[in-house]
Amino acid sequence: MAAKQSSFDLNHFLASRTESVNRALDKFLPSEKTKPATIHRAMRYSLFAGGKRMRPAVLLAAAEACGGSDAAAMPLACAVECIHTYSLIHDDLPAMDNDDFRRGKPTNHKVFGEGIAVLAGDALLTQAFEIAAQAKGWPRYPHRDLILELARASGSLQLVAGQVADLEGEGKKLSVAELRYIHERKTSALLCCSVRLGGMSANCTPAQLAALTDFGYHVGLAFQVIDDILDVTQTSEQLGKTAGKDVAVQKATYPAIVGLEKSRKIAAQLTAKAFGALDIFKGKAVALEALAEFLLKREK
Ligand code: IPE
Ligand code: IPE
Ligand code: MG
Ligand code: MG
Ligand code: MG
Repeated sequence: MAAKQSSFDLNHFLASRTESVNRALDKFLPSEKTKPATIHRAMRYSLFAGGKRMRPAVLLAAAEACGGSDAAAMPLACAVECIHTYSLIHDDLPAMDNDDFRRGKPTNHKVFGEGIAVLAGDALLTQAFEIAAQAKGWPRYPHRDLILELARASGSLQLVAGQVADLEGEGKKLSVAELRYIHERKTSALLCCSVRLGGMSANCTPAQLAALTDFGYHVGLAFQVIDDILDVTQTSEQLGKTAGKDVAVQKATYPAIVGLEKSRKIAAQLTAKAFGALDIFKGKAVALEALAEFLLKREK
């Protein structure tokens, strides 16, 4: 696929937005010394372990594409990262994927124990809504709509539904449609929500919101197909999490169901659909375009 962006400096965009998000998260979260110190240390341990910050990045890029500001979008960018991090802490628990490494470090439960890891996840999810409550509403998107957006993407019809189906799919041979159901919910829902919240924080038009939804849905699906591919093709060192786990526990994944080559094609097709959704921005969505391409080609 030909690169659409010309001179856009994605490395600079990612480095500067990651720094702003980290600074904002540090301010929003209770300090490590705040009682009970264990829970605040556990929350911060996973949050600042070195994630790629892709959900905040697409949120801020969507806000920019719609003429918004980082300042207005920042509480929402921090909220989605807190929800994402909570979902990873719980995903890694022995009762779920039972993983020992995440973001290049021992998982939360390995360091703090299972009880505190469950609570750190609970607290990050709650923290996300406390932070999102500090975003302001916009004429087209009153505050209530922003909170609903976050709650729906992370609740039992979306992210949690996907995690349920993922667990129940272990060891079973699922159809492509069943696998897509899982990917739409466990991964695409929060990515799509991130892109939409970015647009909403810029008081985007309904047409822009529809385009962002289309973009976020397809990028979100591609993201999980690639995650499944990387689990097979990369080393644990490269990923910062244990590679090869999906095959070991017979997870339903794209490589397992359609093979590696077809999975790569599907990821490229989904990314092409995401690109197509950006046409209405007429060149103003360069950061989103660059991010979609980066996500397709990522190696971790
Ligand atoms: C991993 O997400 C979990 C999935 C939804 C595939 P990321 O690959 O964004 O993880 P971090 O945030 O960079 O650690
Ligand atoms: C994780 O999917 C999805 C969520 C955490 C919601 P995976 O289980 O494939 O993610 P990794 O591979 O552990 O990062
Ligand atoms: Mg999982
Ligand atoms: Mg997992
Ligand atoms: Mg995975």
